[in-house]
Amino acid sequence: MTLPLEFGVHSAGSSILMGGCEMSQRLERALEDFLGYLEVTLFPTGWTAGYGIVKMLAQPGDHIVIDFLAHACLQEGATCSGATVHRFPHLSNASVRKHLARIRAAQPAAGILVVTETLFSMDSDSPDIVELQAICTDHGATLVVDCAHDLGCMGETGRGILEVHNMVGKVDVLMGSFSKTFAQIGGFVATQHSGMRTAMRAACGPQTSTNAMTPIQAAVVLEALNIVTGHEGAVRRKRLAANVDYLRERLRESGFATPGEPSAIVPVVVGNSGTARLMTRHMIRNGAIVNLVEYPAVARSKSFWRVQVMADHEREHMDAFVACAIEARTLWGASSQNAPAFEAS
Ligand SMILES: Cc1ncc(COP(=O)(O)O)c(C=O)c1O
Repeated sequence: MTLPLEFGVHSAGSSILMGGCEMSQRLERALEDFLGYLEVTLFPTGWTAGYGIVKMLAQPGDHIVIDFLAHACLQEGATCSGATVHRFPHLSNASVRKHLARIRAAQPAAGILVVTETLFSMDSDSPDIVELQAICTDHGATLVVDCAHDLGCMGETGRGILEVHNMVGKVDVLMGSFSKTFAQIGGFVATQHSGMRTAMRAACGPQTSTNAMTPIQAAVVLEALNIVTGHEGAVRRKRLAANVDYLRERLRESGFATPGEPSAIVPVVVGNSGTARLMTRHMIRNGAIVNLVEYPAVARSKSFWRVQVMADHEREHMDAFVACAIEARTLWGASSQNAPAFEAS
């Protein structure tokens, strides 16, 4: 791609202080088409989008009902909003329903936000979004969903898990990050409310007090979006899905537990912290990149690797990865066939 240098290299201002430009407006329009929302507003990062929208939409006296494992940006937005925060057990729509019924009975007019993700990146699992949106609508609550990890790389046309469940454009508020599939720094909030962008410009810190995405960042995301929506995107998603299935299968037949649903993130159970650290050192030293997730993110006995699969991985890469994992286990670990069942705590 050719960089759009006619727009300069810097946004030179927050969104409200002329930090936007034609390139960022083009990206907002393209995302509105892609995501099926009336208004998409860009943010400097995914973190500021999640934090900013949750903090802005709830006030003291309101309630936020949030998945216990939702991303830190959403949790911190909730805490800083001054609303009463209720954390529900991971993915439990039954618990959300109970919270909403109780809050509505006590405060018929209170604002209620329900906050979750389409794909949780530690566990590679998803809530039942169709049911959750229905529960929210029934109780007059607003659903905010973070789609950072599946947008672009899942769904027939790249519209993510919402597409898989026929929910494109149907969730009240969608937010996301460009730092995964879209190869760039930045984020967005999408809604069907025509006044939301104006409201955010006035009352959402990351729209007013930090510099906007640069023209170059916006141009890169636009280019990535062209790839996602074109033939190359379809081919890459197919290859990615096949790679994920292959790696999960190879790990499973080698005795490793790989919980969660197939996605670009494969959690691999490696057991207690001490063993897991030694196994991780072996992997990294041998060129197999894993992120070790351990206590306090999970129980001490339930450390796991978070492995990220790409469309560009070849079978030989995945075979080498599995061989290295077996070696690490032989050298340092108890057989993970005997490891406790995976369960993020
Ligand atoms: C679910 C989720 N939401 C938001 C973010 C923050 O996005 P960014 O890195 O663009 O700030 C992340 C992590 O990067 C994430 O995993």
